[in-house]
Amino acid sequence: MPKRDRWEERNGDSGAAPAPHWDEAPRIRALITAYEGVPGALLPILHAIQDELGYIDRRAIPLVAEGLNISRAEVVGVIGFYTDFREEPPGRHVLKVCRAESCQAMGCEPLAEHLQSRLGVEMGGTTADGEVTLETVYCLGNCALSPAVMLDGRLYGRVTPARAEALLVGARP
Ligand code: FES
Repeated sequence: MPKRDRWEERNGDSGAAPAPHWDEAPRIRALITAYEGVPGALLPILHAIQDELGYIDRRAIPLVAEGLNISRAEVVGVIGFYTDFREEPPGRHVLKVCRAESCQAMGCEPLAEHLQSRLGVEMGGTTADGEVTLETVYCLGNCALSPAVMLDGRLYGRVTPARAEALLVGARP
């Protein structure tokens, strides 16, 4: 099922029910307030929430909608559209595999397949032990050293399946 549909199925679209109590709400409201009056604030706010929590908690949706005076459906639609936004808390480590053009030409697909099989998750998934989230990204700005990956915010180039495994072994206890 496409990401957007999953979101809508789980979160509904624009229901008028009040936001449930949530301990993080004051922190999220403060993030939203920081963008008050800024045009096109929805994407930066969603990125700020993901930076803060590691993902977009569905309880943030009504707060964002209220803060920007837009419908919850609009917020859900944007979250569902961009693969950057996570629906669930990530694992302890996040491994992003670039699957854009240059990396495709240099073998990122076999690398992605290897990692999915090795970790037992699909792209976007987290290992059962909560250690690693595997994600697709489209260009890490490291095309000259394709195929590229990013592990916990650190960029690596010319990554073979063996090197990716070594990176993971180094990151995991
Ligand atoms: S295409 Fe992969 S880093 Fe640019």
